Parts: sequence; structure tokens; C-alpha cells
Amino acid sequence: MPDPQPTALITGITGQDGSFLAELLLSKGYIVHGVVRRASTFNTERLDAIYADPHELGARLYLHYGDMADGASLRKIVADAQPSEIYNLAAQSHVRVSFDQAQYTADVVATGTLRLLEAVREYAQSGRPVRFYQAGSSEMFGASPPPQNEATPFYPRSPYAVGKLAAHWFATNYREAYRLFIVNGILFNHESERRGETFVTRKITRALTRIKLGLQEKLYLGNLDSSRDWGYAGDFVEAMWMMLQQPQPDDYVVATGESHSVREFLTIAADRCGLDWKKHVETDPRYLRPTEVDALCGDSSKARTTLGWTPKVSFAELVAMMVDHDLELAQQERTLAEAGHKVVSRGLSHG
Ligand code: NAP
Ligand code: GDD
Repeated sequence: MPDPQPTALITGITGQDGSFLAELLLSKGYIVHGVVRRASTFNTERLDAIYADPHELGARLYLHYGDMADGASLRKIVADAQPSEIYNLAAQSHVRVSFDQAQYTADVVATGTLRLLEAVREYAQSGRPVRFYQAGSSEMFGASPPPQNEATPFYPRSPYAVGKLAAHWFATNYREAYRLFIVNGILFNHESERRGETFVTRKITRALTRIKLGLQEKLYLGNLDSSRDWGYAGDFVEAMWMMLQQPQPDDYVVATGESHSVREFLTIAADRCGLDWKKHVETDPRYLRPTEVDALCGDSSKARTTLGWTPKVSFAELVAMMVDHDLELAQQERTLAEAGHKVVSRGLSHG
């Protein structure tokens, strides 16, 4: 029997995927609760379009302060929200940064998931049926050569990937030990105009469009030879939801099945801007990883057959969407600069 008032709890709701998923679930009539960590600046920008004051009639989005490092806050939020579905998307999700902050990454990504699973186990004992989605990553395949599917051995290559693998196995163990409805999504890279600006795709589209408008001169990158299976985040959050609507919990790879190098992404994005990237891009070893994942290309036959999932946005459309969006942002920045506002340098990030 479908839940008459489906209620979802999303950790990581302020991130790229969290914002797309919240929109999707609200459009399906869900009440949506999200975990937000306290910051000294606003970190809910991606939710601006859907946020309504909870005092307003008909508001269906509720935000709660919490942190994956704080099990007590997670237990309280789960008990207060009474969710029928939980999507665990919160993570220190930057692979390069995970080498600099290995213990923190492991705590949030791996032990944080365990804390939430413990909260869910307690909540499920109250008799309320609940379904749980764990945000796994193609980084868990790491050095295993493509194509990668559910049967491919894991070989993680960063503290982030090792943390995600631990979370994957915690989720599997809780599914088996306590008969909870828990699914592991193993998602390949997915991007959008909301992607964090230190991930390579957005770093490229942000920089090239700023270079085009004279706001920046150079773009510093690391390894251009690695290849990724890049899809569109809006398509990928649909797969998360589909996984939780199945009769049985299972694990699924979600990917486009097409892989491109960073160099190819750069070339297509620069072409759209009318730039020759070779005149603007320099390499900086600070963006290299001690151990790299060279090639990812997913085989998502199982998700396509069982869930009926299929990606809608092509690689070329994704690049064009991101470039066009960032060109508009750069135009706004230039207007401000022409009015005398200081142009912010974006070259010092660790991404
Ligand atoms: P993202 O944009 O980096 O968002 C991460 C979210 O986690 C943000 O809301 C962030 O909050 C939150 N967060 C970080 N540390 C936290 C903590 N200690 N406690 C509570 N919340 C915390 O990542 P994304 O691209 O949306 O990815 C969503 C999930 O899927 C992540 O788990 C990621 O590892 C995984 N994944 C992503 C991809 C991809 O290609 N995008 C592929 C496979 C798996 P702030 O906004 O405050 O930073
Ligand atoms: N970030 C970044 N910055 N990456 C660079 C740069 C740079 O300046 N130059 C080259 N790259 C290369 C990286 O070495 C990597 O091979 C590739 O670009 C993609 O890097 P990211 O965009 O940072 O993503 P990722 O593949 O490491 O990780 C993303 O996808 C995973 C799924 O496979 C993240 O979203 C992870 O959270 C996610 O699990």
C-alpha cells in the first residue's frame, strides 16, 4: 500500500543532488525534511527556488540543523520527521580534498552513515516502515578497469572512496542483519549548472566563461587524461527515487555508458565559448591526486532493465547547458565590475 502522505528525509539537501531530489519529491507531493549543517554564511542557496517559510500555509519543505558527525542530532531529526524514505546524500564529497582531510572525510562519509543507520534501526523498531537510500559512488571501483557494473570488484583509490565503500558495506550489513529496506546506488559522475565550483566540469565552465568576458586570464588544472562517465544530475536523482519504489531492496549502478576525458570536456566547452583552451589553461601539480582513478565508464543495464531508468540529457547537451548558464553568471559579474564592484578571484581554491 503506498504511503498516503509520503515523507522524505534528505541528508545533504543543500548540495547539488539534494536540491534536485528535493524538487523532484516536492513535485510528487512529498513532505520533504532536510538536514542542514550550521555555517556562518548562508549555505541554502540551491534551495532558494523551493524554500517557503514553514509558517506559510501549504509549506512542505522543512530544514533541520544537524551534522553527520553528531549522532544525537540525527536520531532526533529522524524521530521528529517520521520519514517513510531517507536519502543519505551528505558527504565531504571532494576526492582531492579527502587526501588533505582523510580522518574528517572518513568520519563524515563512513561513520556518519553508520550513525544514521543506527538512528534508522531504532526508528524502524517503532513499527514505522522506512526505506533508505545510500549514495554510493563509482569511485569505489577506482582502479578496476571499465566497463564497471554491480559485479565489478571494488578497488578504491582515495580516503573518500574507501569511506564510501565502508558506508556501502555498513548499509548492506544493516539490510541483511536487521531486514531493513536499504538500497545502495552506485552513481557515476553527474553534473549540472548547480555543481560545486571545485569539481572539474564546473571549474572549467566557470573559468572559460569568465575568461571569455575578460574577468580572468588563466585556468589551472591537474590531470587532463583521466576519463569520466558524466551524466546530468537531474536524471540521476530520478534513479534514486526509483530504487526506493521497488518491491525488494537491491544495489544498482547508474551511468550513461559513455566516457570522455577531461581534455575532451575542455575542448567542447571552449568551442562553445569560441576560445582556444590551449592559450588559457596551465597545469598545476596541486590539483593532482596521489592516486588517480584513470577511467570510469558504467554499465547500468540492471538499472535500465529493472527500474526502467534511462538518462535524458546527452553529454553535448550537458556541456552546453553548463557553459550557457555560466556565461550568464559571468555577464552579471561583468555588469557589477563595470559598476565599480570588486571582481573576486576564483583561482586559489584547492579543487
Ligand atoms: P555536494 O554538492 O558536495 O553536497 C554534499 C552535501 O553534504 C552538502 O549538502 C553538504 O552541506 C553536506 N555535508 C557535508 N558534510 C556534512 C556533514 N558533516 N554533515 C551534514 N551534511 C554535510 O555533493 P553531490 O554532488 O550533491 O553528491 C551527493 C552525494 O552523492 C554525496 O554523498 C556524494 O559523495 C555522492 N556522489 C556524488 C556523485 C556526483 O557525481 N555528484 C557521484 C556519486 C556519488 P554544505 O552545503 O553545508 O556543504
Ligand atoms: N576537481 C578537479 N580540479 N579535478 C581535476 C582538475 C582540477 O583542477 N584537473 C583535472 N582534474 C581531474 C581529476 O584528477 C579527476 O580525474 C577528474 O578531473 C574529475 O575530478 P572531479 O570533478 O573532482 O570529480 P571526481 O571524479 O574526482 O569525483 C566526483 O565524482 C565521483 C563519482 O565518480 C565527485 O562528485 C565524487 O563525490 C563522486 O563520488
